[in-house]
Amino acid sequence: MRGIVIISFLVLQSLVVSSSQPAPNFNFFYWVTYWPGAICDSQKGCCPPPNSKATSDFMIHGLWPQFNNGTWPAFCDQTNLFNISKVSDLICRMETKWAEWGVWTCPSNETKLWEHEWDKHGTCVQSIFNQHSYFQTNLKYRQKLDLLNILKQKGIKPNDGFYGLDEIKNAIKCVIGFAPGIECNEDVKGKKQLFQIYICLDNYAKEFVECPYVPDRSCASKIKFPKFTKKDSLSESLSVMPSVLAT
Ligand SMILES: *[C@@H]1O[C@H](CO)[C@@H](O)[C@H](O)[C@H]1NC(C)=O
Ligand SMILES: *[C@@H]1O[C@H](CO)[C@@H](O)[C@H](O)[C@H]1NC(C)=O
Ligand SMILES: *[C@@H]1O[C@H](CO)[C@@H](O)[C@H](O)[C@H]1NC(C)=O
Repeated sequence: MRGIVIISFLVLQSLVVSSSQPAPNFNFFYWVTYWPGAICDSQKGCCPPPNSKATSDFMIHGLWPQFNNGTWPAFCDQTNLFNISKVSDLICRMETKWAEWGVWTCPSNETKLWEHEWDKHGTCVQSIFNQHSYFQTNLKYRQKLDLLNILKQKGIKPNDGFYGLDEIKNAIKCVIGFAPGIECNEDVKGKKQLFQIYICLDNYAKEFVECPYVPDRSCASKIKFPKFTKKDSLSESLSVMPSVLAT
């Protein structure tokens, strides 16, 4: 057993060493998703456009390289900006899992969000990813981690109820082994609510790690999990599908 472990370690090491890619010059990644229900009721962004293909679920925000000291590289390469034709085969999935609900651009424009994520964060991780694999990796983690279901399994539901911040972190820790960072915003009454979830990955984005640095993201010890306001039946039926497919 020990022999196998040592051999596979050596194989792994030689793969890393023989690779022509330079080692990442940052320490870890945040993979960030956001809860669209926290946008409409904050009345800060736009509400979901009626024709949106997005589902009532956590949406990808992006994959962000980080330094251990709480700072991060950004906008590293003006010569390789976002080019949608490089991800044309991923667009259908991006439209449903990586929608822009009008919080960063108003009216919402998901192409702008994708462009921003690559130009700001993606251009700094080109020792690991090209445009296609950057977007694909985000989609891969979205498929791997069904955060809404993970929370629902522990009785934590988007029903305007209040849940312990630690309860939410522990539900996710139970599944991935490490507590995530949580970012809150406020509803119109000034109540803190679940907005974004930060999952930490190693600097090759291969596995979950303990967060080396968790910023203070202005939550309270109990936070609201806001209802999602998009009510059309299409989105309801779509949101059921992924878990059916996953079994
Ligand atoms: C944080 O770490 C990075 C990478 O080591 C370094 O370039 C940067 O100057 C540091 N920033 C601060 C504020 O310490
Ligand atoms: C965008 O990517 C496509 C496919 O790789 C390429 O043909 C095209 O020249 C690129 N456009 C720009 C502006 O770089
Ligand atoms: C959305 O953003 C993209 C990229 O910036 C831009 O090309 C496009 O015109 C925008 N679409 C709308 C409807 O504003």
